[in-house]
Amino acid sequence: MKAIAVVTGAAGGMGLATAREFQLKGFEVIGVDQRPSGGNCNHFFQGDICDEKLWMKVRDFIESEYGKLDTLINIAGRNYLSIIESADLDQWRNMFEVNVLGMVVSIKHLKNLLEKSDKPSIVNMSSISGYIGSVGYAAYCTTKGAVDSLTKSLALELAPKIRVNAIAPGWIETPFTVEGLEKSADPVKYRKDVESMHALMRVGTAEEIAKSIYWMSSPESSFMTGSVVIVDGGYMIKN
Ligand SMILES: NC(=O)c1ccc[n+]([C@@H]2O[C@H](COP(=O)([O-])OP(=O)(O)OC[C@H]3O[C@@H](n4cnc5c(N)ncnc54)[C@H](O)[C@@H]3O)[C@@H](O)[C@H]2O)c1
Repeated sequence: MKAIAVVTGAAGGMGLATAREFQLKGFEVIGVDQRPSGGNCNHFFQGDICDEKLWMKVRDFIESEYGKLDTLINIAGRNYLSIIESADLDQWRNMFEVNVLGMVVSIKHLKNLLEKSDKPSIVNMSSISGYIGSVGYAAYCTTKGAVDSLTKSLALELAPKIRVNAIAPGWIETPFTVEGLEKSADPVKYRKDVESMHALMRVGTAEEIAKSIYWMSSPESSFMTGSVVIVDGGYMIKN
């Protein structure tokens, strides 16, 4: 029986790369995203990760096709620029829903299937934004701090059977970041500035994060649970 992975945000930059990495490693990949699939998935569910009915459909499909799930990778997320004096509470709520509750719901509905795997694990997408402050991005940073706390609590709650970890990337080149770059006053300077904030003097690629996620989910990291692993090209040590 093939190993089975669920990847949320599978139509986006890091989700697409992660789905591909798991396929290359021989997994059957089930992608979930609100946008149409960008490829790299054996099965794809289009919908909002905050919608419990979507997860019931995903759960029923996996149950009848495979009877187990080996790894759940929660990548989908979003970001708004929002300064505090004009904070739009609907945006704040939506960001918490997508970045935090979306994970809660996927884990809630897939936990029983994960327990049927020999070596189940969950990897949640955090960010270095969970550690640092960022003007105009308080909402986003707060949600990523919440992802770290969620990861630690659920690692305890689901131990010893299911390992739960989070990954905290630095600046990774994806549609998510390139959009912001292109909207800036001077994209060339902005990019240079961002690159120089990393000790490695460059931004990361979605493929580099996908490989780290794969390692974190695989038995190669079998003694790790409740950890938030920073993969940031040396951003944190430099700033
Ligand atoms: N790019 C970076 O530098 C960076 C760094 C650290 C963390 N992150 C995090 O990585 C994750 C993925 O980012 P990316 O850079 O690949 O961005 P991306 O925008 O390319 O991909 C995000 C994907 O999530 C999907 N999504 C958003 N809301 C959804 C919802 N409610 N239901 C279903 N799907 C939804 C989008 O459709 C998109 O395909 C996010 O959680 C982001 O916070 C990104």
